[in-house]
Amino acid sequence: MNTLYCKGYTKPNYPVYLSTDEDLDDLASLLPRTKKRFVVIDEKLLNLFPQLTTHLRTDETYIFPITATERNKSLNGLCNLFDEIFALKPNRDDIVIAVGGGLVMNLGGLAASLIMRGIRFYYIPTTLTGQIDASMGSKQAINFKGAKNWLGMFNDPEFCYINPSFLKTTSLREFNSQAIEGVKLCLATDKHLFNEVFESLDGLYDAPAPGLTSFIEKMIKAKIAVVEKDLTEDQYGMSMLYGHTVGHAIEMLDHDNINHGEGVGLGMLAAARISCMLGIADESLVTTHEEVLMRLGLPSKIPSHIAPTDIIEKLGHNKKNYEGEVRFVLLKGIGQMANNNEDYFNVVPNKVISAAIKKGY
Ligand SMILES: NC(=O)c1ccc[n+]([C@@H]2O[C@H](COP(=O)([O-])OP(=O)(O)OC[C@H]3O[C@@H](n4cnc5c(N)ncnc54)[C@H](O)[C@@H]3O)[C@@H](O)[C@H]2O)c1
Ligand SMILES: [Zn+2]
Repeated sequence: MNTLYCKGYTKPNYPVYLSTDEDLDDLASLLPRTKKRFVVIDEKLLNLFPQLTTHLRTDETYIFPITATERNKSLNGLCNLFDEIFALKPNRDDIVIAVGGGLVMNLGGLAASLIMRGIRFYYIPTTLTGQIDASMGSKQAINFKGAKNWLGMFNDPEFCYINPSFLKTTSLREFNSQAIEGVKLCLATDKHLFNEVFESLDGLYDAPAPGLTSFIEKMIKAKIAVVEKDLTEDQYGMSMLYGHTVGHAIEMLDHDNINHGEGVGLGMLAAARISCMLGIADESLVTTHEEVLMRLGLPSKIPSHIAPTDIIEKLGHNKKNYEGEVRFVLLKGIGQMANNNEDYFNVVPNKVISAAIKKGY
């Protein structure tokens, strides 16, 4: 087992264990021997990994299965958990173990942070997003009044236990569209790391275990490096938003067919085209983006039934806009974000946005 450390918000750092034990046998010994364990778990995992709860059980372990929908990542979802947990008379020494993708991690992490002003919690992420993104960065949140992640706080888990074996049951499409967010971070912040992962992207989903583990480790390192520089994502951490301006608009307009990662991939390509049009990057940046999407089997063309005018209209509603200007994270080259005195949001003239989007079909 390899141990990395991530800078924390409430602690100097916390361990991120990267395990290759296919039977998950190493998990039980990592957890403290506490009285009560509250396991907040994605309900799908109970069938997919029946041996998992055996590793988590002690004399007093309570399982709370969660249906992973954004509707349940809400005040209502949180209150349901509190009702059940408080009926069991929790103690400040008890712990929460959040097992699932980013959604269950957020819900379980926030619940633990609020119970008696905060009890210890542990992350066992089971999606690629959970493993390479949500595990690092200390963000706990739920949705409120239809807005994503409006209620929350920064708080750290005691540790994250990351095991690539969990990913065997994710679909190819889901896997690749989650992988792009990790590749995005390397593209925006670390040329060396990007070059290393670029070669491995072909057939990553079916790659033998060491290949996948090595990819995950690199992605974790990229996120840890960003958290180290800017934990609250006000400046350098904007790199997380690369590709999200146009990506989010496309996802909103066609969420039946385009998932979050696929939208981000298209948004990254649009951002690369904008960088070229503004003369801050050369054409090879666009070619690299196209190749990344091709290697991951992700769409590189905006579906023709989405009108460019609808995308532009949606951009106007982005909550990251400021005084009516549409802002983008842009790259000068691989691993180099354009910035003005540490301000990583670039205002782009509407004419350029529109031309870049029209090239995307
Ligand atoms: N805190 C953060 O920094 C952070 C970062 C990224 C995402 N998030 C949040 O995480 C959520 C998205 O996370 P996600 O992409 O992991 O999605 P998710 O947690 O919604 O899971 C996606 C789907 O995968 C299923 N699933 C989970 N593990 C599985 C497995 N091993 N095999 C098969 N299916 C499995 C779930 O049941 C669900 O249907 C959003 O709510 C987002 O806001 C938070
Ligand atoms: Zn994203």
